[in-house]
Amino acid sequence: MSSPYSEKVLDHFRNPRNVGRLDGANAKATEGSPACGDMVSVYLKVDDETKRIDNITFESYGCASNIATASIITELAKGKTLDEARKINWKEAADALGGLPAIKVHCSVLAVDSLRAAIENYEETHGLVKERRPTTVEEVRRRLKKVMNPLVGLDLVKTELLTGIVVESGKVTVAVDLPVANQFANNIRREIMEKIEPLWDVSEVEVKFTE
Ligand code: FES
Repeated sequence: MSSPYSEKVLDHFRNPRNVGRLDGANAKATEGSPACGDMVSVYLKVDDETKRIDNITFESYGCASNIATASIITELAKGKTLDEARKINWKEAADALGGLPAIKVHCSVLAVDSLRAAIENYEETHGLVKERRPTTVEEVRRRLKKVMNPLVGLDLVKTELLTGIVVESGKVTVAVDLPVANQFANNIRREIMEKIEPLWDVSEVEVKFTE
């Protein structure tokens, strides 16, 4: 049976470039796909003067298309400025791979979203966000749609695990309907903190689980 994948996809899947965590990274992001529950993390080392991506790596918990797309995206983004890298889209990534099966489009979108989220993370943690709107409950909820509930592989919001969000005087409190002793509680707490702490006007994040 012939493979639905191009030679280039197979090459990047079998020999992914720039894999692993990045020592000295100054930005990172993890995005999950609501379509399949897979995840991609992107790490960036950005030159603080030129705003050029000096180095970029990824970790993937996804399928062959996901790994191949994340791999090619690291090659496309390396050496670009943040503004240039932000313009890389899934079509450019898919074209660079010699095409992807239509059913796998969400896999390349996921890798592109992770790159954009890592760029956003750099800008937020380095005071580069131009439009500083006060953080709202809606914004917190939007970000928490990217935190996966590992019990079912869908996000926290969709699986109705969030029971409350309060934003008050720089403090964000998130209530999660999961016992604190659950094996995934610490992971979920860390991911919530990673998504909310970079917001420019947030000085404290508290995640409350049930007893
Ligand atoms: Fe999940 Fe490809 S099927 S990322």
